[in-house]
Amino acid sequence: MKKILVTGALGQIGSELVVKLREVYGEHNVMATDIRRTDNEVVCNGPFELLDVTDGRRMFEIAKAHQADTLIHLAALLSATAEAKPLLAWNLNMGGLVNALEVARELNCKFFTPSSIGAFGPTTPKDNTPQDTIQRPTTMYGVNKVAGELLCDYYFQKFSLDTRGLRFPGLISYVTPPGGGTTDYAVEIYYEAVKRQAYTSYIAKNTFMDMMYMPDALKAIIDLMEADSSRLTHRNAFNVTAMSVDPEAIATAIRRQIPEFKLSYQVDPVRQAIADSWPNSIDATASRDEWGFKPEFDLDKMTKDMLLKLSQKYSLVGAS
Ligand code: SER
Repeated sequence: MKKILVTGALGQIGSELVVKLREVYGEHNVMATDIRRTDNEVVCNGPFELLDVTDGRRMFEIAKAHQADTLIHLAALLSATAEAKPLLAWNLNMGGLVNALEVARELNCKFFTPSSIGAFGPTTPKDNTPQDTIQRPTTMYGVNKVAGELLCDYYFQKFSLDTRGLRFPGLISYVTPPGGGTTDYAVEIYYEAVKRQAYTSYIAKNTFMDMMYMPDALKAIIDLMEADSSRLTHRNAFNVTAMSVDPEAIATAIRRQIPEFKLSYQVDPVRQAIADSWPNSIDATASRDEWGFKPEFDLDKMTKDMLLKLSQKYSLVGAS
């Protein structure tokens, strides 16, 4: 990776990945693109262009002008938004992906796009979900993710395009909140713990899902992209996870830092149904074996860091 183009660069992953990539590969070598513009370091501290990923022509022009050799395609709608607007999700998630793959094919770029635990469904084995297993998701997001995994495999087999991907669990970070996902509760709970020492969860007790802290997710993307291609058997859909948790487990970890923290429930049936269709925990053995995946943050270590960083963020805001 020398000249990288990132789509969806102002989203939850992109806003931290771009900063990290610029540290590693050089500020001017990482072109960030998004459908909107905000005054943050992604836009102000390096090359940035407005891009709607459904406009394949413009994506091609930006990538060509940047002389991109790597395309990291992040722009997508998450699971709950996709359920509310299924046709928009199909057009954006699949249309954007096909455009990005075509640009990568025309310019011979290495390619990364994330898949998700949402690529599994109710008939998938729920515990320690294998790398290769039944994938019959019941959400539009899941349909997009399975189709995306297959499409990336197809571009590899048919056109020898170097496509790679990870099935991300819920990603937790203190920089940019996710929007419209089912696992978002696991981020909100930390913000609310810092702001008011209480949280009302829309996901029910005993609903276990995989999660991972953002620094581990960023490292996983870079490690996978830098891995020796000949070692990769599961190119576009590696299971990765650092923990399997329910709301109570996170609350218990928060109480080790904030003893007065209170958790209550008001379950949202739509997001609960999505969560119930996903695995409790997935098996990341293929990632460990094929490219050395090893997350650094478990629940307690992540919780300490999240609470510290969010307290600093809010005391800074309060003081200004
Ligand atoms: N975090 C995503 C969501 O909840 C799953 O990939 O939609």
